[in-house]
Formats: sequence, structure tokens, C-alpha cells
Amino acid sequence: MAGMSDIAFFEAERSERLFADRLDTTSDERLALVLCKIAEHLHAIVRETRPTLKDWRAAIEFLTEVGHLCDDRRQEWVLVSDLLGMSTLIDALNSDRPANATPNTMRGPFYRPDVPVMNHGENICLDGAGTPVDVTIRLLDLDDRPVRGARVETWQANAQGYYENQQPDLQPEHNLRGHFVSDDAGSVSYRTIRPSGYEVPKDGPLGDLLGKLGAPLCRPAHIYFQVTADGFETLTTQIFDSEDPNLGKDPLFSVKPGLVGDFAATGAGSDAALKLDIDFRLNPHKQEHDA
Ligand SMILES: [Fe+2]
Repeated sequence: MAGMSDIAFFEAERSERLFADRLDTTSDERLALVLCKIAEHLHAIVRETRPTLKDWRAAIEFLTEVGHLCDDRRQEWVLVSDLLGMSTLIDALNSDRPANATPNTMRGPFYRPDVPVMNHGENICLDGAGTPVDVTIRLLDLDDRPVRGARVETWQANAQGYYENQQPDLQPEHNLRGHFVSDDAGSVSYRTIRPSGYEVPKDGPLGDLLGKLGAPLCRPAHIYFQVTADGFETLTTQIFDSEDPNLGKDPLFSVKPGLVGDFAATGAGSDAALKLDIDFRLNPHKQEHDA
């Protein structure tokens, strides 16, 4: 029988150690380390903020409500991860690139992989609604040499801030989605419309909480791109409208240097349009990171 001296009694000031000491750290060292770190930080938060039992029940209820909102069509936990900046932090740590390579952002939930390849110059706005924009993209390596044969997929919201797959009854199939291959000069060009920003879903528990605390919930207008090319890391990124008033307050923290684009006026009269010129600099492939 164990004597009293063998028992590790609970102590509030070092409560996380009691938990950590009970784990078998040899069976999965990494898992044990992560779980210990989670416990360490959680215990420290509790000691620092001293929640009452009522506070703690409210926290459990919040987490329960988040879980109840998740199903095949809605993933509230992803929104929690996004709005706390976790998704962007994890993406950033997993896509560390040289300073002159275009940075990655998250791909988001609206990508579709099934858009057929189109010809350069095509208009991807299939319902004619919105201010026309002529987009020219140059794909370059880190020494500014053109990357030919690169696959560029793009998708964006319409002028009301909705993606085609959010409004299957209102927008044509594949509206505002493009799929192009870069030419010998490493270029891709097409016509689209200027997208609008939009609010992230705020009808769930986190939107409610952040709304109460005055956190911004409007995403600045952006166009998504995914670029794949032999010999290079896949680039998934967004270009943000430099004139959007919410540019500095993206609730998903995706706005990074090099990802802001100017929609510049061009032409006159019936030819009046906007143009957007973008350079993407691709990072060479790293076998161990590009799954
Ligand atoms: Fe978006």
C-alpha cells in the first residue's frame, strides 16, 4: 500500500504538473508534449483570470453551442479558429517563405476544383453584373524570370459579396471562377468584376461575442488565387482591394504585404473599365513541405 508520502497532492499553484505527471510520455512524445502545453497554458489562464463557477459554466455553454452549430454545411469551429487568428497563424507557420515570395493565405470554404480551363481574355463574370475589371497576372520565380505553363485558378465574390456556391439559384454555375494556364511570358489575363467585401457569419456564438466587444467582422474585398506550377510550392493567396475601408481590419487577418492591389481606371466612355495588375512570385518546391 502506498504511504502518504507517495501521494502527489493537489496544489493550485502548480496544478498543471499533477496532470502532466500522469501522462505516459513514452507512448507518443509529441502528443504528450502538446497536451501538457495545453494544460500548462489553460491552468495559467485560470490562475490569472480567476473565473467564478458561473463564468466557467458560461464558457462550457459557449463551447457546447459552437459544437451544436456544426454539421455538413456549417463548421463553426473553423470560424472560431479563423476569427481568433489561429487559422492564419498556423498557415503562416506552415508556409514560411523568403521575403520576396508572395505570401500564402488560407484557401477558405468557397473554392471549387472543377472549373474548366479557359482562354486568356475571357470574361468570368457570367451574369454581367458589376464594374468590369481587366486582370493581368505575371507569374515569376524569385529571380523575376517568367513561369510558363503555371495553372492559375481564381474565385471571388460578386458585387454584393456572395460567392456563386452561396447562391446556386441566383448566380450562374461557375460565375466569377476562372482557370487559366500562363503563356510563354508567364502571363494570364481575363476580365471580371470588382468584388465586394462581406461580413463573416455573426449569427453564431462567436459572432455574438465578438460583436459585443466591437471586433470588426467585415472582410475587405478580395480575389482568391491558387497557383500550381511544376518545381514550385503551391501558392494559395488573396489580393485585396486597396480602396476598401476595411483593409486594415480583416477579421481573418489575411492582409499581408504584397497582397494589396490597385483597381486603376482605364479607358473612357463605353470602354471605361478598371484594371488590376498582379505579380506573383513563386517559391521553389520544398519536397518535405508540399504534400
Ligand atoms: Fe472570401
